Amino acid sequence: MALANHSFSTSALSLAVSILYALLLAISSLASSSPSPYQNSPVQKWMPRRVPAGAEFVGDQVCAECHRNKVTSLAQSGMGMALETGAESRVLIANPTMTFKTGPYSYEIRRKDSNSLYTVTDGRETISLPILYAVGQGKAGQTYILQYEGGLYESHVSLYKEVGGLDFTIGMARTIPPSLKAALGKRLSDNEILNCFGCHSTGAINGGLIHLDRMTPGIRCEACHGPGGQHASASKAGQPGDKLIFNPRRLGGDELSQDFCASCHRVNNEASLLKSKDVDSVRFQPYRIFQSKCYSDDRRISCTACHDPHEPLDRNAAHYDSKCTACHSSRGRRPEVKSTETQPLAPTCRVGTKDCVACHMPKIGPPEAHFKFTDHYIRIANPKETHPQ
Ligand code: HEC
Ligand code: HEC
Ligand code: HEC
Ligand code: HEC
Ligand code: HEC
Ligand code: HEC
Ligand code: HEC
Repeated sequence: MALANHSFSTSALSLAVSILYALLLAISSLASSSPSPYQNSPVQKWMPRRVPAGAEFVGDQVCAECHRNKVTSLAQSGMGMALETGAESRVLIANPTMTFKTGPYSYEIRRKDSNSLYTVTDGRETISLPILYAVGQGKAGQTYILQYEGGLYESHVSLYKEVGGLDFTIGMARTIPPSLKAALGKRLSDNEILNCFGCHSTGAINGGLIHLDRMTPGIRCEACHGPGGQHASASKAGQPGDKLIFNPRRLGGDELSQDFCASCHRVNNEASLLKSKDVDSVRFQPYRIFQSKCYSDDRRISCTACHDPHEPLDRNAAHYDSKCTACHSSRGRRPEVKSTETQPLAPTCRVGTKDCVACHMPKIGPPEAHFKFTDHYIRIANPKETHPQ
């Protein structure tokens, strides 16, 4: 059975590959007859986290010369603060002393001079290290990266806002660690470092290699727009520079949500890698929204319909009402329907007229995350079924 399936999928794959190849040929011959707007551009099409070798970022201080408002607001957003150095971490400065105990091990994170020291002791031996990086803005929690014996470690304990202090890092066994070194944390493999810094910072990964020396903490302009040097110099010279930088507005709704934002926010196949399709998948918004009857290629249900990636997250339910009624009202026509017709794209609610998300995007969470995530599977929520798949 398995073998038959395998050979089927292989031939299906090779068929798909040859179709794709034919398509690519067709596209490239088209492209040669009508030049692409990006012909002289450093970025044909940009996908976050796939930074080719040699790509050079100029940094947002250059963008700030002309796009100051976006640079300022992004720096105050969750994505802008997705990683900070231990020295600069606002969360660590606001929490100068934290402790935790499990079995014989005592933990302490204490601010000393201009950094925080992460200390773990079994009463006899002690490891004490400065915190290199603080990962996560700390809305739910924050995990620490430490340097030890020539490697990078993920801290065994993390700060959780709801707890108001430390608890086990998600993914770590909630049992007493077997040794002091294990109690310190988990040594990250190269692959884990690539992914962790690829999702939480900008410029650290180039051509699949780690360059922490080139890293800018947090998600910055060029993580989403690609290298901006040529665009900035053309604009400075008073020339049109808009074709020299990638604008994700050119993507279709589904491509934006399921490829572009999903390069970090994760999709279906990554969710199914989880041991069980359990409540953890609620953190994967592209995967969750894909399950909803609301979801389609329509731009009105893509990530940017509800979220401006340059702004802090809007936490007011009323902010989202107009996004829902863009489809769920007599105004919400199908794009292909002529404007004189009144057939709405989707039905209206018999129960509520405002704060739609409060009922239809319930907040749920795995207990060890100490945080309730917003379930992007928009639906008539059944209280007996907290996280349907
Ligand atoms: C010297 C001024 C200047 C600098 C520096 C600059 N830009 Fe721009 N940018 C502009 C102008 C002018 C436009 C076109 C008008 C607009 O959309 O605001 C533009 C447009 C854009 C667009 C939209 C392009 C499109 O196709 O619609 C993006 C994205 C962008 N800039 C990103 C950046 C990033 C990222 C940086 C830093 C790496 C940067 N810019 C630096 C002036 C500048
Ligand atoms: C390079 C990786 C990356 C990409 C690409 C990315 N994000 Fe994020 N995003 C993150 C990370 C990491 C966080 C978590 C930040 C934190 O809470 O520390 C986040 C958080 C957010 C938040 C919540 C902010 C908050 O304060 O809770 C929103 C909303 C969001 N992203 C929207 C988007 C949208 C929309 C896109 C696509 C246009 C996108 N993201 C693309 C990495 C990314
Ligand atoms: C595939 C991309 C990806 C990878 C890899 C990744 N993260 Fe995240 N992380 C996110 C996104 C997106 C969020 C926001 C949504 C959520 O909370 O799940 C997030 C949230 C977090 C938060 C909670 C932040 C808050 O809002 O309070 C912490 C802490 C965190 N990540 C730590 C880490 C650490 C440490 C690593 C690596 C060892 C890592 N992450 C690897 C994408 C990623
Ligand atoms: C998380 C991804 C992400 C980050 C980080 C990001 N952008 Fe954007 N940007 C987008 C998306 C998506 C669009 C298209 C929005 C749309 O579809 O309307 C966009 C559009 C733009 C535009 C076109 C005008 C507009 O408002 O639509 C400019 C200019 C721009 N970005 C500049 C910047 C600058 C400057 C930074 C850094 C401060 C930045 N962006 C950071 C995702 C991002
Ligand atoms: C129809 C509106 C809508 C769409 C589309 C949407 N979101 Fe959200 N999102 C929300 C609401 C509402 C919240 C919760 C705001 C709050 O109360 O803090 C939220 C919160 C978030 C958060 C913060 C973490 C959490 O669980 O609260 C992240 C990250 C996020 N969205 C990412 C995305 C991404 C990525 C996409 C595209 C796949 C997306 N969203 C599409 C409405 C939307
Ligand atoms: C792009 C258009 C679009 C947007 C935006 C949209 N929806 Fe929908 N929604 C639909 C469509 C289409 C259906 C399916 C209607 C049907 O089955 O006849 C649907 C179905 C629903 C259902 C019924 C689901 C079920 O399981 O039976 C609810 C509840 C709902 N939407 C609420 C919302 C809320 C709340 C928002 C905003 C957060 C929203 N929708 C945004 C298009 C949209
Ligand atoms: C107080 C909670 C609550 C609020 C607020 C609320 N809804 Fe509902 N909604 C419900 C419930 C419960 C149902 C199922 C009722 C039923 O079976 O008739 C429902 C049903 C729906 C349906 C399915 C209708 C159908 O005929 O299939 C849609 C679509 C919907 N809501 C959209 C919205 C939108 C859009 C908003 C905001 C303008 C909203 N809801 C506000 C609780 C709410």
